[in-house]
Amino acid sequence: MCTSYLDDKFVTFRNLPMEQRISCFTKRGRVFDMIMSQQMDRQFIDDIYHLTNKLRHISKSKAGYMFLQNILAHKRAMLYFNQPSSRTFLSFHNACHILGMKTSEIRDPALSSEVKGESDDDGLRTFSSYTDLIIMRHSKSHMAERAAWLLNTFSNRPIPIINGGSGQDQHPTQSLLDIYTLQRSFNNKGGFDGKTLLMCGDLKRGRTVRSLSFLMRNFSDVKVIYAAPKAFQIREDVLEALESYGVPYTIETESLQKVLPLADAIYMTRIQDEHDRDHGDSGKIDISKFKLKASDMVNVKPTAAIMHPFPRRDEVDVEIDVDPRAMYWRQERNGMWTRAALISYIFGVEHEILNY
Ligand code: CP
Repeated sequence: MCTSYLDDKFVTFRNLPMEQRISCFTKRGRVFDMIMSQQMDRQFIDDIYHLTNKLRHISKSKAGYMFLQNILAHKRAMLYFNQPSSRTFLSFHNACHILGMKTSEIRDPALSSEVKGESDDDGLRTFSSYTDLIIMRHSKSHMAERAAWLLNTFSNRPIPIINGGSGQDQHPTQSLLDIYTLQRSFNNKGGFDGKTLLMCGDLKRGRTVRSLSFLMRNFSDVKVIYAAPKAFQIREDVLEALESYGVPYTIETESLQKVLPLADAIYMTRIQDEHDRDHGDSGKIDISKFKLKASDMVNVKPTAAIMHPFPRRDEVDVEIDVDPRAMYWRQERNGMWTRAALISYIFGVEHEILNY
């Protein structure tokens, strides 16, 4: 099929209201493709939370582990990652294996027929010929959305697509594991409702920050603080979304220290300089006032959660790793279990797991 023909059709699709786009990724009233955080309502987040906890519990015994090994043993997943990844790739890979799925992968486009000039669209339709699920990370924004739209609209064998990070756009399964970690961290303190989330770093180009921001509509009385130099501040579309949800936010451009004592959760991010090719020279911007140092921890609430999607550079001192408020290593582990929960939900086997 001609790519420019599909380009035009996809532009038309992307101009539809959000609800109509989301309905393309929903089947029989359930999430089918996981493309963007706006697909997740509070019921879905709570369902995944309980399913994740149940999966963790079941897997502790050999009998439970063997039960899980059988649950999706008849399904195959393809991991298509054209950008580097450690956590998302490995956690999805292991999540599939926990559920007994067989996996195949393309991580280097130079080893696929992309190098012979095959279009992204044809490549994705090819992957869908062999597997039951595509988990993908792509350097182009909206590529996962395009893949799901393409298969749902033009293929007679649509299979679910899970977005493992798309350009500077979204990373919805990161936000799912982030919100799981936050809910778990505040389990005895009323959950995440009523809390203040401080996000710091490269907010402009960080897709994890965008996806987590879009989840805020599901929680009551939350506030968001965005701390970054002007050049790295959060984009207008996220602020407009928060306004439409009625979620209050503040913008801090002078220093992280000024707002640290206000936060219940502090979400640090690295500078995403892999995007410099398209968007400026980030090395010239002074970010020294937007790092979390060990000496700052006296100004952080004793009950706060320190988060980071990782990888990190020097924006969080390594000394903080031993502080009980540091949640980032837990985030990594939680990622595998929330992703296993999401896959089992997409394949409709959650009741078998919950009833085990
Ligand atoms: N958080 C995250 O997406 O990490 P990776 O890039 O290592 O997958």
